[in-house]
Amino acid sequence: MRKTVRPPRRLRGTIEPPGDKSISHRAAILNSIAQGEAVVENFQAGADCLATLRCLKALGVPLVLDGQGRLRILGNGRFGLRESANVLNAANSGTTLRLLAGLLAAQPFFSVLTGDASLRSRPMDRIVEPLRAMGARIQGREGGARPPLAIEGGSLSGIRNRLPVASAQVKSALALAALYAQGETILEEPAPSRDHTERMLRAMGASVSAVGGSASGGDSLEGGLRVSPLTHDPRPLSLRVPGDISAAAFWMVAAAAHPDAELRLSGVGVNPTRSGIIDALNSMGASIALEEERVWGCEPVADIVVRSSSLRGTVIEGSLIPRLIDELPVLAVAASLARGETVIRDASELRVKESDRIRTTVRELRRLGARIDELPDGMAIQGVGSLRGGACGSGGDHRLAMALAVAGLLAQGETTVRGAEAVAVSYPDFWRDLGRVSSY
Ligand code: S3P
Repeated sequence: MRKTVRPPRRLRGTIEPPGDKSISHRAAILNSIAQGEAVVENFQAGADCLATLRCLKALGVPLVLDGQGRLRILGNGRFGLRESANVLNAANSGTTLRLLAGLLAAQPFFSVLTGDASLRSRPMDRIVEPLRAMGARIQGREGGARPPLAIEGGSLSGIRNRLPVASAQVKSALALAALYAQGETILEEPAPSRDHTERMLRAMGASVSAVGGSASGGDSLEGGLRVSPLTHDPRPLSLRVPGDISAAAFWMVAAAAHPDAELRLSGVGVNPTRSGIIDALNSMGASIALEEERVWGCEPVADIVVRSSSLRGTVIEGSLIPRLIDELPVLAVAASLARGETVIRDASELRVKESDRIRTTVRELRRLGARIDELPDGMAIQGVGSLRGGACGSGGDHRLAMALAVAGLLAQGETTVRGAEAVAVSYPDFWRDLGRVSSY
C-alpha cells in the first residue's frame, strides 16, 4: 500500500498514542503465569502484540481482547502453560519470540518458535547461548542463531551472565528462564536497557533486585539484576498500559521541526529507560514540556507538549542509545532539518532490527534530499534547509514507514511512502492520526 503525504500548513491537536508495545507484550506474558485474572487496559492491538496473544492462547492461556483495548487474561499459575499443538508464530515480533523462548526453555514440554522472513533473519544466538548455559535444550537454524527455534523445555540452573549488548529482549528472556531455575541468576548489562520486565515482576511479587551500580529514578535498576526462582505463583497484575513513547516520538519530531505546530501527546510513558528521545530533542533545542506527570501501575506517565522549534545538530551516543534505540530513524529526520551536523554512534544494534535501520534510513532519506551517511555503528547527518518530497519505501519496517511519513510532513511537495501498511505492526491508527492533526 502507498500513502501520499503533503506538508500541512499547521500541525495542531491532541494525540493519544497507542499503548506501549513493550509493556503490552510483558503484561500478557507475565500475567499468563500468574494465578488468577488480570485486566489490562489500553493493550496495544498492533500486529506484534497480537502475535504474542495468539502464541499464549496456543499455550492454553484463556484470554480475550475486546475492541476497546481491554485484555482479560486468566493465568493458571507458574506451571499452567501447556504444550502447543502447533508451531508458535511470532510474525514480525522479536519481543514475542525472544521472551517466549526464555519462558518456554523452562517448561516441561516441546515448543517451536518461528516468525516472518525479517524475524527469521535476526540473531537468536544472543538468547540461545546463555539459555544453553542455563541448561536449556534449543536447536535452530545456523546452530541456533536464527529461527525457527525448537525448544525441548526442562530444568535450568541460574547463571551469572554479562550480556554482550544492552538488550531488554535478551535480559527479559533470561529473567523469565531464571524464574524457573535452580539458584539465582545475575545479569549484567553494558548499559541500562528498558526495565519494564523488572518493574512488573516485582509488582507481581517475584524477587528481582539490583546488584552493584546505583538505583536511579526510584524503581529503575542499574548495573546488574538478580532474579531469584519463583517460590509461589506471581500475583495477577491489572494495569493501564501507558502510551508508547516510541509512537509519540514521530509526532514529537514532526511538531519540533514544523514551522507552525503545537501537539499534545497525552498519557505517554516516560520511564527513564525509554525517554532518551526527550533528552536528544532537548539537546537539539526542541521546545518540549512534560505536563500532568502521574504514575500508571508501575510506570511514570505524562502529557508531552511539543511546539515548533529551531533545531540544531547534536551527538547521540553511549548509554543514551538503548534509551532511544527505536527512535533513531525519526531522529535522523529531525537531524536532516537541524542546523549543523548530527552524529549517531554506538548504534550498531540498528543493523539487526526489523530491517538494517542504518542502511534503510540512509537510503530512503537520501531520496528525499537528506545529506546522510552510513557509519559502521550509526549515521552522520548534515542538516539541509529543507527536504524535498519524493518516492520512498518502508522496506516492510514499521518504524521506517512512520519516519518517512514524518519526513513527508516536513518536505516541500508530495512524498509517496510505499509499504505504508507496515505501520500496523505497532501503530494501526497512525495514518488516521496524521490526518487528524494536519491542516492544509
Ligand atoms: C524491546 C527491546 C528493544 C527494542 C524493541 C522492543 C523490548 O530491542 O528495539 O523494539 O520490548 O524489549 P532489544 O532488546 O533487542 O534492543
